Amino acid sequence: MSAREEDPLAAQQNVPASGYGEYGEPPPLPVARFGHGSRVPGWDEAVDLEKDPAEVPDPDSVEVPEELRAEIEAHMADYPDRHSAALPALAAAQRRYGWCSPEAIEQVACVMAVTPGYLDSVVTFYDMLETESVPPHSVYVCTNISCMLRGGYELLDHCKHRLGIGNKGVTPDGLFSLEEVECIGACSWAPAMMMNYDFHENLTNAKMDQVLDEYRKKGTQ
Ligand code: FES
Repeated sequence: MSAREEDPLAAQQNVPASGYGEYGEPPPLPVARFGHGSRVPGWDEAVDLEKDPAEVPDPDSVEVPEELRAEIEAHMADYPDRHSAALPALAAAQRRYGWCSPEAIEQVACVMAVTPGYLDSVVTFYDMLETESVPPHSVYVCTNISCMLRGGYELLDHCKHRLGIGNKGVTPDGLFSLEEVECIGACSWAPAMMMNYDFHENLTNAKMDQVLDEYRKKGTQ
């Protein structure tokens, strides 16, 4: 039997029999290309040598609040490589400023002696690090399998109704945002949600109301 006959997928994709390599491997699948022939716009363009290189911020020109500096340094001391402290350091800045603003990132970069670009790549990867200003209270309702089976969607609908907003919406008073999320690791106590960084489990609509009321009373604290 030829390699082509052994590989029904390749046959479906009309890979020509002559395209098989020395060891019977199929040729690479064609890659979609843009109009000018490249795979990703700009990949074959010359580097801009005039552009400023990414630099570690100068400690003399960036003011960092003492408390924040101390917290970041304490996180750095927890790891053999300071880069590993990026997540807790950014979380500390987010707690202070409400989001990872360019200024907040600059301050963290200055203390950690890394480029803002390095931290930017971390912030834009993780959902819970915010790239825009967000309301003081973020409601994350889990609708993954365990929670779904225990009423996660009903809970999400209840939240939408109580807050008067949809998924990824923000209440008109700017106090709450609502987001449907994947598993938050509280499956044993499903259905579960997070309010900011606090877990609330074994929820019912009545319990959800209590949580929302509690945080509404807190206001912007
Ligand atoms: S499925 Fe909801 S916490 Fe895991």
